[in-house]
Amino acid sequence: MEKTLILLKPDAVIKGVCGQIIDRFEKRGFKIIGLKMLQLSKELAETHYQDHRNKPFFQELVTFIISGPLIAMVISGENSIKTARTMMGVTNPLDAAPGTIRGDFALNVRNNIIHGSDSLESAKKEIRTFFTDSELIS
Ligand code: RTP
Ligand code: MG
Repeated sequence: MEKTLILLKPDAVIKGVCGQIIDRFEKRGFKIIGLKMLQLSKELAETHYQDHRNKPFFQELVTFIISGPLIAMVISGENSIKTARTMMGVTNPLDAAPGTIRGDFALNVRNNIIHGSDSLESAKKEIRTFFTDSELIS
C-alpha cells in the first residue's frame, strides 16, 4: 500500500486540533502505521525543507516548524499521497476550500497546520527522515 508522511505542525498542536485531523484520515480509510510527537532540530527542519532552501520564506518556515512539538505520522492506503493532499487543501489557507483541513483549521500560509508529502519520491525520503523501519508497523 502507498505510504505518505503527514506532519501536524506546531500550530495544530497548540490549537489542540490534532485528534480531529487524525480522525479525518482514519475515517477516510487510511491506516496509521507510525506516529510520534517530537520537536524538530534546526538541522532536521532544514533537511526536511531542503527543496525550499533558496526561497525567501525559508528561514521563517524553519523557525516556525521548530517552534514547538509536532506530530509526525505515516499513513498507508490506496493513493494516500494524492488523497492526503486533496484532504489538506491548497498551501495558502486563504484559498483552501471549506471542508479541507487547511480550509477548516488554518488562516495563513505560514501557520497552515499540516504537511503531506507531494510525490512518491518525497514520501520515501521524508518517511526515512522521520522514522526508522522498526518504528513502522508492516
Ligand atoms: P508542505 O510542504 O508544508 O506540506 O506545504 P505545501 O507542499 O502545500 O507547500 P510548499 O510549497 O511545499 O511550501 C512549504 C511550506 O512553506 C510555507 N510557505 N510560505 N509565500 C509564502 O510565504 C510561503 N509559501 C509557502 C508554507 O507553510 C508551506 O506549507
Ligand atoms: Mg511541500
